[in-house]
Amino acid sequence: MKRAAAGEALARVESGMRLGLGTGSTMRHFVELLAEAVEAGQLKDVAGVPTSVETADQARGAGIPLLELHEAGRLDLAIDGADEVDPRLDLIKGLGGALLREKMVAQASDRFVVVADDSKWVSGLGTRSPLPVEVVRFGWQSHLPSIAALGGEATLRTDGAGEPFVTDNGNVILDCRFCEGIDDPFEVQERLRARAGVVDTGLFLGMADEAILASDTGLTVRTREGV
Ligand code: A5P
Repeated sequence: MKRAAAGEALARVESGMRLGLGTGSTMRHFVELLAEAVEAGQLKDVAGVPTSVETADQARGAGIPLLELHEAGRLDLAIDGADEVDPRLDLIKGLGGALLREKMVAQASDRFVVVADDSKWVSGLGTRSPLPVEVVRFGWQSHLPSIAALGGEATLRTDGAGEPFVTDNGNVILDCRFCEGIDDPFEVQERLRARAGVVDTGLFLGMADEAILASDTGLTVRTREGV
């Protein structure tokens, strides 16, 4: 299903485009398919800005030309996965730990297309996934009362060895569970972002233009215009 969504996204790519390349298992399919199209000469002069070291490594290894974000200027199209997609096309992202670069790349793009299997479709944000919040390491515990006041229960993300998971930016992630979902994502975003030490949250509000959702019965495409 993830590959089917990725294949549909590839149909939005034209020769000469500068692309934002997201992170995650769905995006691994997209990068593979993009590399095949470049190799076959179906797409020419495309270049990508990766949103993580992981995606950069995969894309470089597959022969896709890469650019730094500041070299690329405006991007034509960013493609990325999501952990939740709601009916307004608002998203939770960051279970892969790349939320900050993903958001910076999406904001630099003229169009932002989300690819996912339909298990990511939710009626309200925070009902399926925790909300990842990237914070600097110093004093990360000091955010816990404020997150609790918003209705969230935060835990420090750890890696397989039980050590704090460190992002590509050298920060840590608090995964915040909202047992009843997030009532007002805009307020949560504003209040968390206002705190010194919070780098960003995995709430992508008003950013996605299109979501390609794959299920075992086929693809559903939802656009911002249709919201
Ligand atoms: C990475 O930080 C995330 O935002 C991913 O986009 C998200 O976790 C989706 O990943 P999958 O495609 O693996 O579900």
